[in-house]
Amino acid sequence: MHLGRLLPACILTSFSLGAVLPPQIRDADSSSVRLKHLKDMSGKAGDPPEKYFHESIFHPHYDGRFAETTLDYIEQKRALKNLVQTFLATFNDLGVETWLVHGTLLGWWWNKKARRKANGCVITSFYQELTDQKIMPWDSDIDVQVSEPSIFFLGTYYNMSVFHYATPRIPEGRDYMLEVNPHYVNREQTDTMNVIDARWIDTESGLFIDITTARYNLTHPQGEGMMSCKDGHEFRDTYIFPLRTTVFEGVSAKIPYRYEALLRAEYGESALTETVFNK
Ligand SMILES: *[C@@H]1O[C@H](CO)[C@@H](O)[C@H](O)[C@H]1NC(C)=O
Ligand SMILES: *[C@@H]1O[C@H](CO)[C@@H](O)[C@H](O)[C@H]1NC(C)=O
Repeated sequence: MHLGRLLPACILTSFSLGAVLPPQIRDADSSSVRLKHLKDMSGKAGDPPEKYFHESIFHPHYDGRFAETTLDYIEQKRALKNLVQTFLATFNDLGVETWLVHGTLLGWWWNKKARRKANGCVITSFYQELTDQKIMPWDSDIDVQVSEPSIFFLGTYYNMSVFHYATPRIPEGRDYMLEVNPHYVNREQTDTMNVIDARWIDTESGLFIDITTARYNLTHPQGEGMMSCKDGHEFRDTYIFPLRTTVFEGVSAKIPYRYEALLRAEYGESALTETVFNK
């Protein structure tokens, strides 16, 4: 697949987290997002033809079109942090509501707890950095949800858009791509090959964020207000809305209104009390 040719749009923004770098504006031509490897690491060959997104043959959380191996632990942590910061900043800019879910929400929750504990002390910026509501150290993915109107908006206007960000750590900048699964218009859970509606992809490392849509389920036996995702998750809308505003990895983020009840339902009470990592 020649990805370069498939890039109709280019959206350019610049990003700085407390940084002083001038905006870097340039056209994302075909050379800025390209296949770096001749070997097919995409995993496409082993997937059913109706599956749109492919996970690499070397790791389920990497896109094999952009990398042929995983990063080491420290590098991966850094890349994930940049991934989530650029994602949240972009969606804030676009005005697209998105909220943290699953393991990512759990990571936020645990770090909030750590921060609360620290509240008795003077919080230095160093300590703040340590407890800045973070991705859990062993996680290699990030999960977020959007509403159905949002996925229509993204699919219509921003598919395959490339966003260029420079940060103090990556002064030369890096391209992130938003790719929307054309099967997002299929609302049914029976479309099991396409439960991920969109991805935010680091075109340097191949790491990505899975974006799933929470859709109102008009035929749910529990009646009005139930929402379903194609991956099988179901919840009442009052668990999600109104979204709460928080901070995640130093960037403004949103979380479900009844976040604790959601986490308890998904992971059980022990996920909120056990302090020893248990798979
Ligand atoms: C996004 O673009 C890719 C590449 O052109 C295309 O295969 C895919 O169907 C598009 N998705 C949507 C939602 O249009
Ligand atoms: C609605 O909920 C039912 C019951 O869980 C489920 O079988 C069905 O797939 C859902 N529909 C959609 C569009 O998600």
